[in-house]
Amino acid sequence: MSSMFDLTGKVGIITGGGGVLGGAMALGLAQQGVQVVLMGRNQDRLNRKAQKIEEAGGKAIGISGDVLSRNDLQKVKDEVTEAFGSIDILINAAGGNLKGATISPEETFFDLSPGDFERVFRLNLSGTVLPCMIFGEAMKEQGSGSIINISSLTASTPFSRVVGYAAAKAAIDNFTKWLAVEMAMKFGEGIRVNAIAPGVFIGEQNRLLLLNDDQSLTERGQSIIDRTPVKRFGQPEELVSTAVYLCSEASGFVTGTIIPVDGGFLAYAGV
Ligand SMILES: NC(=O)c1ccc[n+]([C@@H]2O[C@H](COP(=O)([O-])OP(=O)(O)OC[C@H]3O[C@@H](n4cnc5c(N)ncnc54)[C@H](O)[C@@H]3O)[C@@H](O)[C@H]2O)c1
Repeated sequence: MSSMFDLTGKVGIITGGGGVLGGAMALGLAQQGVQVVLMGRNQDRLNRKAQKIEEAGGKAIGISGDVLSRNDLQKVKDEVTEAFGSIDILINAAGGNLKGATISPEETFFDLSPGDFERVFRLNLSGTVLPCMIFGEAMKEQGSGSIINISSLTASTPFSRVVGYAAAKAAIDNFTKWLAVEMAMKFGEGIRVNAIAPGVFIGEQNRLLLLNDDQSLTERGQSIIDRTPVKRFGQPEELVSTAVYLCSEASGFVTGTIIPVDGGFLAYAGV
């Protein structure tokens, strides 16, 4: 790849790195020369992902921790800066949903579990804000760094049912713009903050909503495909090029943006 996109020797933390999308971006960045640090809650899962990345010729380690714990985040920051000297990249891919924050077809808004709503909101929003605070401080000290938050299509036009998740992702878009301005105005142009809004990818959490046991599409899965001009779900590897772009010098004048990688979903009015 041309030097404009070169990431050799950079150090990148990927929260939710044991998951489907975080894991794919971690592998992709490692293949571009990034020393990858996978952060998540399950050390065995992180070790397995890190081993796969190493087998593919990349450099990766896994460090377990909860993105909602300042202590865990601080521990990861200390370990990473001691071992590798810097934190150049942060991808906030830890996130998810809970049943009680989702309205099933038989339910209405009035059946929402306020506790689960708060838990989902907190995981997705605070689980992005706190890593930006702790790891972003290392970037502030270095005067450089690239943060990528993970938004969703549901941030701009809320999907039915997923009320807590949609609200949290909308807040992530707003926070991404806010932090981009804050970093640039107070610490200079070296620290950039952007988001990727993935379209629909089959992951562990949404599989049951999208596919039946026989792998045929559910009604919801079919209606998403109908609204997607390229007529398919995304492949996790298809997020890598956008992540590489946002982490590299090629995007030096790009901050505060939310880039959809969605097969045209957001561009399509449905007619
Ligand atoms: N799959 C999709 O279609 C899709 C679309 C748009 C956005 N997203 C977003 O992309 C991100 C990754 O999604 P995915 O499909 O790979 O899901 P995933 O469940 O495979 O990965 C999420 C990872 O986050 C980890 N995690 C959850 N809570 C955590 C915590 N408190 N601390 C540390 N780690 C924690 C999980 O253990 C898991 O490994 C999420 O933010 C999701 O909302 C996914």
